[in-house]
Amino acid sequence: MNPTEEEFNRIRVFLLETSGLCLSADKQYLVQTRLEPVARRHSLLSLAEVIRRLEERNDGSFRDEVIDAMTTNETSFNRDSHPFDELRSTILPRLMQTLQDRKTRSGIPFPRIRIWSVAASTGQEPYSIAMAILDFLEANPRTGWTADHFWILGTDISERALQAARAGRYSDWEIDRGLSREQKNKFLTQHEGQWLISPRVRNMVDLRRVNVLQNIVDLAGFDLIFCRNLLIYFDELTRFNVCQKLAKSLNPDGLLLLGAAEHLPASSDTTFQQIKFGRTIAFVKLSAENQMRG
Ligand SMILES: C[S@@+](CC[C@H](N)C(=O)[O-])C[C@H]1O[C@@H](n2cnc3c(N)ncnc32)[C@H](O)[C@@H]1O
Repeated sequence: MNPTEEEFNRIRVFLLETSGLCLSADKQYLVQTRLEPVARRHSLLSLAEVIRRLEERNDGSFRDEVIDAMTTNETSFNRDSHPFDELRSTILPRLMQTLQDRKTRSGIPFPRIRIWSVAASTGQEPYSIAMAILDFLEANPRTGWTADHFWILGTDISERALQAARAGRYSDWEIDRGLSREQKNKFLTQHEGQWLISPRVRNMVDLRRVNVLQNIVDLAGFDLIFCRNLLIYFDELTRFNVCQKLAKSLNPDGLLLLGAAEHLPASSDTTFQQIKFGRTIAFVKLSAENQMRG
């Protein structure tokens, strides 16, 4: 199933239009290795037949299966460690102050802090956020805050990845990539040779399928957004459009965290301002007033 140049280009256009995934010219092998199992499952004998089915039939589930197969779900607990260390030490106190201010202004007792993990993949990122919050609450028992004051939404385009996230079941290898022995003992239990996320962590996280290229206007009012290691798969225009959408989903003064190798498109400079928490770079959403000034 080695793709011809034309087949490769048609798959590229399909992925770009539907998911934003931008395949560079050297990624022909990815099309071959990832679409072969899809073709086999549907008894399709060639890539030409896969493309015909994608283009001719209005078959949403087949299209989703192809997109799903082409996503890269690489992730780990506490990925890059410092964003999660900063979450515990500096970012959470800042968010809690925001919440206190909101409570004072609106009079609503303890509205929740809303956190969104945009590309949650198999769940390690939203669960790492939940564990950092629980660590923080345990280390600061006098705050009067509880896990109920936080809501974490984890989303991804890949239903296959989300199914793994919902199961919350990980191998030794996955656990050893990023979790300390202490977190492992506190937040996981062993079951039939695997590790299960404990209910108190699991209950803090909602998981939903969301394609960030589609309409996300109902996803609003977030105080912190993790959009880590997703923009690298997009071209510059898609990156800009996605960052603008995420800005709309954030509350004023809300924070956006990107992956270690990612940066905001230069054209987003009037929407966000860079701020440093130790080694972690975050982007604060500017208020409408400051955006106009910029
Ligand atoms: C490399 S993983 C990053 C996981 C995690 N954020 C991390 O940093 O470890 C990228 C994820 O983005 C998801 N993805 C790709 N395109 C997407 C889209 N258009 N909307 C939502 N998620 C998407 C993929 O399914 C994949 O799980």
